[in-house]
Amino acid sequence: MTDRSISGAISNGHERRAAQPRKSGSVRIAAVGDFHCGTDDVGAYRELFARVNDEAEVLVLTGDLTRWGALAEFKVVVGELADVTVPIVAVLGNHDYESGEMEVGSRMLRARGVHLLSGDTFELNPTVGFAGVKGFMGGFGRGMLTPFGEPETKAFVKATLNEVHSLELALRRLSTPVRVAVLHYAPIAATIVGEPEAIQPYLGTDRLAEPLDRFGAAVAFHGHAHSGTLRGTTLGGVPVFNVSLPLLRKERPGAMYYIYDVSAPAAVAGAKAISLG
Ligand SMILES: [Fe+2]
Ligand SMILES: [Fe+2]
Repeated sequence: MTDRSISGAISNGHERRAAQPRKSGSVRIAAVGDFHCGTDDVGAYRELFARVNDEAEVLVLTGDLTRWGALAEFKVVVGELADVTVPIVAVLGNHDYESGEMEVGSRMLRARGVHLLSGDTFELNPTVGFAGVKGFMGGFGRGMLTPFGEPETKAFVKATLNEVHSLELALRRLSTPVRVAVLHYAPIAATIVGEPEAIQPYLGTDRLAEPLDRFGAAVAFHGHAHSGTLRGTTLGGVPVFNVSLPLLRKERPGAMYYIYDVSAPAAVAGAKAISLG
């Protein structure tokens, strides 16, 4: 299935960027999360990831790179990315924290050259920069958890607010006119539609959307909601894409990432759809 409706397409990596017309000066992003590498996944993604070299200028990974966050799994991830020659921008997901080995795992990814963002930025060129945080949960709209009552509840909300502040500072720090946000947790409710209602407050929070709107992010990518919805927008109109691999593969079997073009501010709002066969 080719997605022709708005600003992007799900790809299985067989398309070639040279064959896809796009606006001059734009940057083509390939984004995916939740591939959850286990120790039995050696070689499962290596060729698929290598195809990104022909299809995009940058690879964005939205967390849950591993199943349990074990060092052996981080090692598999590094191996799967071995043939990628374009820059890689990533955040970790909750699964990557599970074994408490995320700091060493992060060093392994950074040693590979991955721009692993945790309140940090990466400027691809003078036009396009990335701000990344894992994000956190807490719910949406009037159902959002508030810091009321027990200290444990307040600590929980504070953890969310810390991530929001990290995102805000990272977006503020970017000097590029085009700012791309990379998250694991969802910043809007629209892209988790499809998940069981009972777990939706654990899939993200729209507290994360406020910095996206305030700093005029060109686009945001997230994962985590495997059964969610591909696209939505913040109240301020920022496009948001849930690029969780299980979701992409539900939309297009064999898919490996979502392709999206961003360009200079005047053209960002009109980023045009691309056709991928
Ligand atoms: Fe996941
Ligand atoms: Fe997750």
